[in-house]
This record gives sequence, structure tokens and C-alpha cells, in this order.
Amino acid sequence: MNQAIYNFAVWLDTHGWSTALHESFYLYNWIETTHVLTLMFSLGLLFLIDLRMLGLALPGIPAGDLARRLHLPMLLGFSIMLITGLLLFYAIPVRTAQSLWFRMKVVLMVAAAINAWCFHHSMTTAGTGWDTARKAPPALQWGAGLSLCFWMLIVVFGRLIAYDWFDCRTGPPEPFATLSGCINEQTHY
Ligand code: HEM
Repeated sequence: MNQAIYNFAVWLDTHGWSTALHESFYLYNWIETTHVLTLMFSLGLLFLIDLRMLGLALPGIPAGDLARRLHLPMLLGFSIMLITGLLLFYAIPVRTAQSLWFRMKVVLMVAAAINAWCFHHSMTTAGTGWDTARKAPPALQWGAGLSLCFWMLIVVFGRLIAYDWFDCRTGPPEPFATLSGCINEQTHY
């Protein structure tokens, strides 16, 4: 599995566009800045909904209403995060694919996506009686709490990608070398 991921990343690394993006004076920084600033429209709106479900913010606003009205702008924010994230990956594919932090971030993003799906399912089956209550029904509170935890960890791991503590180039000890995807005799870093 690590060999296949490495081979795919090396293939991306041979692309002229990948090198051009990585070596660009402005473009890479603009993409990363957009990746960071769009946190406001993605996680900023999501956290408002989660905190409302937990009864910790905006008690006067019907919770279901808030979630429905913020859904589209939030999805737009996440789409921009996804596109800029894929471009950041494409610019430095080998190092990113072998970043322990990036891998943990991807695992948590999958978990957060599954949690979001369950949350929306619970919201459609919860009816409407709870809308103006201070706290949402327990299933939605659990979903909101898990969402806050997953996304805060994703932000921390995203920030740690820049640090080379377990980079394959540094020869990290096991199990970090395997978890990071380091392979023997690799030629690209
Ligand atoms: C949608 C949810 C996402 C969130 C909340 C998120 C969050 C973050 C954060 C907070 C950083 C640190 C930025 C900095 O301080 O420099 C970051 C960096 C990064 N993200 Fe994301 N990210 C998301 C999606 C993605 C996706 C889908 C990918 C790629 C498939 C990705 C790839 C990266 C990379 C490669 C970096 C490192 C950039 C660098 O340090 O040079 N992100 N992300």
C-alpha cells in the first residue's frame, strides 16, 4: 500500500504543472492563503451550527433553521477547501503523501464526513418539535460534539504538515516510518 501511494505521488511529481505550482513565487502562497482563509466559511459556519445544537450559542435562533440556512454557504466553503487542498497536495505530492500528519488528517476527514452524514440523517428523522429548544436531541448533540472534535484535530494536523519531525528524509523510527509511508531505497522525497 505504501509503495503504491509512493509510486502515485512520484508520478504526480513528474508533472510539469506540479513543479510549476511548487516553484511559483505567488501562486502556491495564494492557494495556501485561500486554504486558510476559507476556514471561516467552512468550519466557522459549521462550528456555529454545532454550538447551537449543544445549546452553547445563538439560543434565540431555531436550530434547524440555522442549519438549513447556513448549509449552502458552508458547502461552498468546504468545496474551496477541497480544491485548494488538492492543489497543495499536487504541488508537493511525495512529501505530503508521506506526511504522518497529512495521513491522520485524511483519516479524520473521512470520519468527519461519515459523522456529517449520520448527523443529517438524524436531523431529517428528528422531526421539528425540538427546533426552538435550548439543546437539540441527544443524537444531534453527539453528532455536533464529534464534529467539533474531528475538525479541531484536522486543523491541528493541517498545521503540523509543515513540520518535518517524521519526514522520511530524516529516517524516522518505527512505527512512524511505516505510518508515514516511508519505503526502502526511495529516490524521491
Ligand atoms: C476541508 C477540510 C480541510 C481543512 C479544515 C483543512 C485545514 C488545513 C489547515 C488549518 C492547514 C494549515 C495551513 C497553514 O497553517 O499553513 C492545512 C494545510 C494543508 N492542507 Fe488542508 N484542510 C482541509 C482539506 C484539505 C484537503 C482535502 C487536502 C488535500 C487532499 C489538504 C491538504 C493540505 C496540505 C497539503 C496542507 C499543507 C500546506 C503547507 O503547509 O504547505 N487539506 N489544511
